[in-house]
Amino acid sequence: MMFTVAIDGPAAAGKGTISKAVAAHFGFAHLDTGLLYRAVGAKVLAGAEPIAAARALDPVDLEDDSLRTPAVAQAASEIAVITEVRSALVDFQQKFAGRDGGAVLDGRDIGTVICPDAGAKLFVTASAECRAERRFKELTGKGMDITLDQVLADVKERDARDRSRETAPLIPADDAVLIDTSDMTIDQAVARAIEIVQARLG
Ligand code: DC
Repeated sequence: MMFTVAIDGPAAAGKGTISKAVAAHFGFAHLDTGLLYRAVGAKVLAGAEPIAAARALDPVDLEDDSLRTPAVAQAASEIAVITEVRSALVDFQQKFAGRDGGAVLDGRDIGTVICPDAGAKLFVTASAECRAERRFKELTGKGMDITLDQVLADVKERDARDRSRETAPLIPADDAVLIDTSDMTIDQAVARAIEIVQARLG
């Protein structure tokens, strides 16, 4: 059985949590595509050239815990505007999406560019303030020394860049179902996502 779930949306909207829960519920594999861009961003911060780093990307690079920092997230957003970087990462994502047994991919352009024929498409959003608050709790929970204002500025800067780039900008696919998680609990958002996917699966 091949079935792809595309979950897109801005930073810290709850895509990761929802994607993991949807994948677990249906027994699908999950790929956080942000990790691909983060891995390239991390290599660039270490001195690599972006296009070469994207072409040489190895799946084991995605397991690095240091990819979760705001500095790497910004670097990821910066290299993600480069068309050749994006095209170097398409094949890996489409192969993952086409695997037998079903797949959930979350990112920015899954429903629009990577998997335009996905069986279910969700666009997960929340206000910038809600998203910054959640990311702030997550980062300070890990012991990071950062202010809410810094996190909000970071989230807004990244969104603006992701939305305005020419290649594969962050935008809902025409046939995506929108979920605004601003006033939802995690459980509510997950239940809604599962309901939408279930309806598409038939
Ligand atoms: O989902 P994330 O926050 O880990 O993504 C980090 C950056 O990577 C994001 O700001 C933009 C880029 N990205 C992208 O351009 N396309 C994707 N499918 C996933 C992430």
